[in-house]
Formats: sequence, C-alpha cells, structure tokens
Amino acid sequence: MSRPERDIVEVLETLDIAGWGGPVHTNMESSAIEALEDGRVIHFPRLAFALSTDEGRFLVPAAADAGAKNVSFDAQAGALKHAAGSAQDLAAMTAMMQRYSEHAVALVRMLLPRYADALEIGRTSFRPAEIAGRALSARKDDTRLHIDAFPSTPTGGKRILRVFTNVNPRGEGRHWRLGAPFEEVACAFVGKIPRQVPGSARVLNLLGATKASRTPYDHMMLNIHDGMKLDDAYQRDAAQNEFSFPPGSTWIAYTDKVSHAATSGQHLFEQTFYLPVRAMADPSKSPLRILERLAGRALA
Ligand code: SIN
Ligand code: FE
Repeated sequence: MSRPERDIVEVLETLDIAGWGGPVHTNMESSAIEALEDGRVIHFPRLAFALSTDEGRFLVPAAADAGAKNVSFDAQAGALKHAAGSAQDLAAMTAMMQRYSEHAVALVRMLLPRYADALEIGRTSFRPAEIAGRALSARKDDTRLHIDAFPSTPTGGKRILRVFTNVNPRGEGRHWRLGAPFEEVACAFVGKIPRQVPGSARVLNLLGATKASRTPYDHMMLNIHDGMKLDDAYQRDAAQNEFSFPPGSTWIAYTDKVSHAATSGQHLFEQTFYLPVRAMADPSKSPLRILERLAGRALA
C-alpha cells in the first residue's frame, strides 16, 4: 500500500481485560482515558461476548429486517427495533441485546469510573449482515473513512463513545481502516463547509427530522462526515492504517474523533454512549473545542 500509515501505537492501544466486570489494574483508567480522549482505539483482544447455543441461530442476516440490516435496542425502554422473527425469537433477541448492553455498561463503569456519573446510555445494535459489497449511497457507506455524525441525532457537542464486539462464528475479523488525527481531518474539510442556512435548524427540528436542534457544531461535523465520504481522492490517498479485530475481541473508541471505516466483517454488537464535554478529563481534546479553536467562535 503506497498511502502513508501511522505507527500503529499512535492509532490503537491494547488492554488485556478478560472479563466485562474486570479486574482492571490501578493505572488502567488514566491510560485508557488518555488513549480515548487523544483519539486512539482501545482493543481488548480477550474480551468476548458469549452467545448461548440457542442464540447462535440469530447469526444470520435474516435476524434483522431486510431494509434495516441492524437490530436496534433501547435499553432504557426495553424496546427492540428492526428484528425479524416470531414473538419467541424477539423475546430471546431482547434478552441477548439486554445482556450485551449490561456488559458494555459494566465495562465502561469499571474502566472509566470518572465518566460514570455523566455517561448517557444510547442505543445497542446487533449487525448480522456482511458489510463488504453492500450497495449504499456514499453518505451512508461506512466502508468509507468518516467520523461519526448523524443527520437525525445532533449531539450539541456531546462525545460519542462506542463499544464494539465481534462475534463472528467462522473466525472472520472485522476489518477497519483508521485514518488521520481529528485536527488534520478538520483542517482538510472545515474550509469547504457551506454556511448553515439561518433558521434551518429550527425548521428541521419542528418537522421532526432531528431529535434536537442542529447546532453550528452539528452542522460542521455532518459536513466533515459527508466531505470525507464523498471525496474519492481523500479516501484513496489519506493516511490510514488497516486493522482486523478478531472474533472474540472488543474495542472502544470515541467515533466522533477517530476517523474510521469498516470494510468487511459480519456479526457485531455495539453499544453507544454519550458524554458531555465537561465530563472529559481534558475537554480541550473534544471535537467541539478543536472546531471552536479553528472557527474562532462558540459552536454549541
Ligand atoms: C461504523 O461505525 O462506521 C461502522 C462500524 C462497524 O460496523 O464495524
Ligand atoms: Fe462510523
């Protein structure tokens, strides 16, 4: 590969935790927080999510609605969405997703206790479809490098922290590309962002197109996300490392800061968390503060 790569230790950190409830070593929290806030992925090579023999039958694309591809679970409400099957299947899938969510919550509480009080629990997802070769518009195509920002869910600056676990039963890794540091990405794309149309955030919110009003921060993040995905030359030439997360392993990252692309793999669990910037050990490392420094004004 001719495009530049970074030293893998700048991109990925490995932590040897074997159980969702620990134990962790005393210095693990500060090094984990530093790695995450700097924009590195933390990989736990031995942290697996065990499925029961019965649950193994859900490892087929047909477990999710054909249109949705992913099963989604709201742990607060106990609500399962986009799952396909009998009432009994849905109950079993709910229990499986609930258990993954509880494990992910236990992991972040144990590893990152300083975040515990401020952390908001978002959606849990189960992704039983192969991601390579899917036909999607460039904007929706997560096989292209991007930072996470979603049209319907503005965060207003809150961090997006995600836990991922590969449960592939055939030994297949989840193949990711990891791109340049956020500051570099931001510098490459902020100059091309169109002005947010005055009043548009309010209209989108009134129409129910967004779950909260889109702040100038959300506008910039969405445009960086789209700018990256739509730029073929950037996808081809940007600095990037490839890494395959083996089945039976877990990883965690601030996906609003880490540029990432998932190029192949099947059968993944994921839990999303949101964290207010003020709860970070170093808020100046947040995308919000970085973009505010570049823009020279408050963005949220
Ligand atoms: C993404 O967050 O872009 C996709 C991650 C994955 O499904 O592996
Ligand atoms: Fe993503």
